[in-house]
Amino acid sequence: MYYSPEVLEEVMLRNDIIGVIGEYVPLKKKGSSYFGLCPFHNENTPSFSVNADKQLYYCFGCGAAGNVISFIMQIENYNFVEAVEKLADRAGIQLPKAEFSPEDAKKEKLKERLFELHNAAGRFFYKTLHSLQGREALEYINKRMISQSIQTKFGIGFSPNSRDELFKHLSQKGFSVDEMLKSGLIIENKYKNGYHDRFYNRIMFPIFDVRGRCIAFGGRIIQKGEPKYLNSPETIIFNKKRNLYGINFAKAERKKEIIIVEGYMDMITIYQAGFKNVVASLGTAFSKEHAMLLKKYASDVILVFDSDEAGEKAALRAIPILVDGGLKVKVLQVPNGKDPDEYIKQNGSKEFGKLVLNAVGYMDFKINCAKKLYNLNDMERKMDFTKEAANMISELSSPVERELYAQKVSEQTGVSQKAVEEEVLNIYKKQNMDFKKESEKKRIRNYSQVNNIEKLSNTKGAFEAQKELIYLCASKSEICTRVMEILKPEELRNDVFSQILSYVYNCVIEGKRPEPSEAVNIFTEPDKQKIAANIFVLNTKFEDMGSIVKAVNEEIKIIKKANIDYITSNASTIEEVQEALNLKKQIENFEFKL
Ligand code: UTP
Ligand code: MN
Repeated sequence: MYYSPEVLEEVMLRNDIIGVIGEYVPLKKKGSSYFGLCPFHNENTPSFSVNADKQLYYCFGCGAAGNVISFIMQIENYNFVEAVEKLADRAGIQLPKAEFSPEDAKKEKLKERLFELHNAAGRFFYKTLHSLQGREALEYINKRMISQSIQTKFGIGFSPNSRDELFKHLSQKGFSVDEMLKSGLIIENKYKNGYHDRFYNRIMFPIFDVRGRCIAFGGRIIQKGEPKYLNSPETIIFNKKRNLYGINFAKAERKKEIIIVEGYMDMITIYQAGFKNVVASLGTAFSKEHAMLLKKYASDVILVFDSDEAGEKAALRAIPILVDGGLKVKVLQVPNGKDPDEYIKQNGSKEFGKLVLNAVGYMDFKINCAKKLYNLNDMERKMDFTKEAANMISELSSPVERELYAQKVSEQTGVSQKAVEEEVLNIYKKQNMDFKKESEKKRIRNYSQVNNIEKLSNTKGAFEAQKELIYLCASKSEICTRVMEILKPEELRNDVFSQILSYVYNCVIEGKRPEPSEAVNIFTEPDKQKIAANIFVLNTKFEDMGSIVKAVNEEIKIIKKANIDYITSNASTIEEVQEALNLKKQIENFEFKL
């Protein structure tokens, strides 16, 4: 979906970034920028800045960056169109209907086809499970005590033990080879003269998106073998980082909290036991995107994991991501080295319910994990533990919680509560100083960039070179006009960079000033918006044209060389390599002049 640049311009014009962000974050003016506490990560000293002139925000702490639209997308968990609508509403602007760009329309069409294809595949697997071929699989599923109605609800199926039955079935249903390959369910064989199914002889678990559409499969082997679970690869409809198994069911429960487990079977068993607000991660580490997805439907989460070392480690890794995502996190350790599925089958749902009720706050869990590492009878070790615990407490943003945990640590160690609290205070003071030192370092770094361009350019990578070159082209049209003759946008090997460079070129051709906040709007995905905004928050100040020309010269060389290295590494003949080397020589002698 897209809105024309004119509409977006109007929406942004009428929603000044300072005013909009000010409604969420108290801001203080300092010089030409406004500062506040970053809403996207936990912090005690402000490193979040908003610039009125560029209409961009940037956090020195976590790197969050963007324009007013991406801010609303991030803070409200909206997509691009929803954010534009909200801002239009705020300013009382009547929006025209959003349209698809031709490119997006094609992508939407393909997505639609892939949903249909997955639907057809799901039905096929289901039918196979209930045919003669699926007898053994069905026995296994029944042995694992998944009830008939849950089997149906989750659409569990079976992929036949043959090379290409699904391929034949989908062809017959009218799906093209291209669509099948893009679904990830069909693979080209290694001789490249035929196709076969990705999954065979596995119990199939359809994976649904939030809206309940089948977007992928997980397949479990019945006998012993590797891998135990095989999952669909990432496709344009399946992103493991953004999906959770069971989120469509959990969401419908509208509960304050959501239970998180590791396995498909755990999720299903817990659901069957009556705790329907449960999801499983899809065999990947917990991501920021997962946290954002959960935050849309719940305020609290309960992390459930096996009580072995691996489970504990996984929980410790997931906690900061969930906490930073603004969720209240509790932890539940299943006793006796069991996973939740085994626990429920052995002890019943009621006992599991007790575990859920007794889940502890994540800080208790973290402190307990740390405690295991120290011998509290040893004076020295006790002190170390107290310091580490104080460090953890300092991460808490609520003073009430800090007091509560200081009290707990005091009880556990015999160190007075006041001393623990003082320790926490000292950590804050130190952090504040570190922050100041860090900003001073940044200031010096920026400054030395002015005087030391040559030295810096040699060491800086192609990524930085591209960023700075775009920035310079956007700030000086006379530079841009020359660069345009020498460098094609496609020569930037980063998709975001090349699109922005072509935006900057177009502006200069049309005699317009490139607007940072407009450049961010080329993209509707937060990741790309962030990269885009990062270009323009560069604060390089160049004193004279001479040093700019020098910088541009270096940057073009770096970019061209990187590009040639890329071509070389992909070359398949000696001639191609030779040609690339020749090009490289030419670049050595190249000099950028105005
Ligand atoms: P487990 O090995 O703990 O399996 O993997 P499980 O969930 O207890 O499965 P059952 O009870 O033996 O059937 C936990 C999760 O890790 C992912 C899957 O998402 C699985 O549910 N996983 C595991 C894979 O993706 N691939 C594998 O080979 C194994
Ligand atoms: Mn299990």
